[in-house]
Amino acid sequence: QKSKKERAWEIYGLSRDYYRLLLSKEVGQRAMQYLAKRNLTKTSQETFQLGYAPAGWDALTKYLLSKGVSRDELVKLGLAQSKENGCYDRFRDRVIFPIWDSQGRVVGFGGRTMGDDPPKYLNSPEGEYFNKGKLLYALHISRRGIREQGFAVLLEGYIDVVSVYQRGVTNAVASLGTAFTREQGRLLMSYTHNVVIAYDGDAAGVKAAIRAAEILQELGCKATIATIPDGMDPDDFIQAQGLEGWSNMIAKALPLVQIKLLQAVKQYGIGNSASKQRILQEVLPNLAAVASSIELEEAVQHTATVLQVNWETVLDEIKSYRINNR
Ligand code: GTP
Ligand code: MN
Ligand code: MN
Ligand code: MN
Ligand code: MN
Repeated sequence: QKSKKERAWEIYGLSRDYYRLLLSKEVGQRAMQYLAKRNLTKTSQETFQLGYAPAGWDALTKYLLSKGVSRDELVKLGLAQSKENGCYDRFRDRVIFPIWDSQGRVVGFGGRTMGDDPPKYLNSPEGEYFNKGKLLYALHISRRGIREQGFAVLLEGYIDVVSVYQRGVTNAVASLGTAFTREQGRLLMSYTHNVVIAYDGDAAGVKAAIRAAEILQELGCKATIATIPDGMDPDDFIQAQGLEGWSNMIAKALPLVQIKLLQAVKQYGIGNSASKQRILQEVLPNLAAVASSIELEEAVQHTATVLQVNWETVLDEIKSYRINNR
């Protein structure tokens, strides 16, 4: 007798296989062309089990009903919506990215439109099996690379992970489009305590990267932030710069304090003592949170140099911050 969970994995697995099959058929030709246009190889399509959900209203529903899946199950698993006169598929005319738990069992899907019709990505609804905040995309694929290389790279998007993986970056995972959560942090930390965050090179990406680094640091994980040039994301970057460019960019990832300093200097300038004070206030919480004394010394010195003040001044500020926020 199967448990409810095992039954869900089975049905998601059937759906994945069906979407996979359709990608290889005539009906999936446009999706295949789309993947080719995105330079995603056949090998990647296999590794990441990419598929195609057809444009009709009930293709998957019909298929699964024929396999003995009930309407009730279809709706509960977020694969179909129920209507007065039947059921219709959630994913229609989209490229399908299966989403797995850390054991590699399919627990939901992300579907990308091939055109401009929003939403760009449609995901399985939040529910009993699919909790975006508790999953990391491709963790079961990249966990070997993470162990071998001793660190993980955290990205924003599914396509980013697939794109960098196929070019040799085998230690990347993605946070599924939502804000990075403590649960995701803990999950990642069962594989490594060293994470490089490489979010998209736009204002939103930098902000989200800072927040993710703060969460990881609070959990006791080393987190640095890589800078992708403005307007690019990891997929764009590695297509333009190759694996070598990627590795250089990752090697130049900076600690949180330095990224925040750069941002604050950009925002306030370092013209006068008032702006210096402001900048120091921005980074104080992060400085105070640095646990290792060597890292703290480096961070203090760096901050002092950037602000052109004595390091004793910075250290004094950290001490009073720590006392006031105990
Ligand atoms: P491409 O445009 O195909 O290259 O995708 P991208 O990954 O670069 O997209 P983007 O940077 O906009 O988004 C990053 C991630 O956020 C995606 O992989 C999705 O997980 C998520 N996301 C983006 N757009 C949407 C959306 O419209 N709805 C939902 N639910 N998630 C989205
Ligand atoms: Mn641990
Ligand atoms: Mn983005
Ligand atoms: Mn992209
Ligand atoms: Mn992007």
